[in-house]
Amino acid sequence: MNQNELKKLVGEKSVEFVEDNMILGLGTGTTVRYMVDALGKRVQEEGLHITGVTTSERTAQQAKSLGIPLKSVDEVDHIDLTIDGADEISSDFQGIKGGGAALLFEKIVAINSDKVMWIVDESKLSPKLGSFPLPVEVIPYGSKKIFERFAEKDLNPKFRRDPVTKELVRTDSNNYVIDLYLHEIDEPHSLAEYLINQVGVVEQGLFLDMVDTVIVGRENGPEVIPVNR
Ligand code: 5RP
Repeated sequence: MNQNELKKLVGEKSVEFVEDNMILGLGTGTTVRYMVDALGKRVQEEGLHITGVTTSERTAQQAKSLGIPLKSVDEVDHIDLTIDGADEISSDFQGIKGGGAALLFEKIVAINSDKVMWIVDESKLSPKLGSFPLPVEVIPYGSKKIFERFAEKDLNPKFRRDPVTKELVRTDSNNYVIDLYLHEIDEPHSLAEYLINQVGVVEQGLFLDMVDTVIVGRENGPEVIPVNR
């Protein structure tokens, strides 16, 4: 199976956990796209009643096109379950997210969810976080100063640019993303605290102690891993 087939496998598996009348957080990314397709199918074919809380314009557009009713995080009193992708998951189930520049809304939705599920193909697993560049969302004003501070601290920052237009990437909140090329993160909790305390940083992509279930797409089928936290 190639990577896209593994993504489809976990996307389809994850919607088996969706029950009637749930309020569901819908993540962002290519894996989530398969999940939203499968969810739309259940809504259309089984008449499943759900309310989606999306984490990006992209996911909102897809969900709307499939007839999934949506509300914003401020319009619901709880979220039963959020299903999202991840860029890297360590052996102790900490994660890096934000490869699709949706980390801010993804984190807001995740921390307001009763349960969080990540769906990934097996290439996303690594013993220790850091091989995927860590995204940091920053306000444009003063972002050069933050960049310089990160460089002085040897965090290897790089502004994210669109690969085609070479323009700086803007998030749904019109902010920039600085990716930190760290290779290995020894102390994710202290790094997360340092980053979030920098004035001008809106959010950072370490998703720590947040996930309840991981579904990993493997050659021999999806593996559902409950996480104790
Ligand atoms: C977007 C994210 C995505 O969940 C992450 O990038 C995984 O994406 P994909 O499923 O396309 O590999 O964090 O901000």
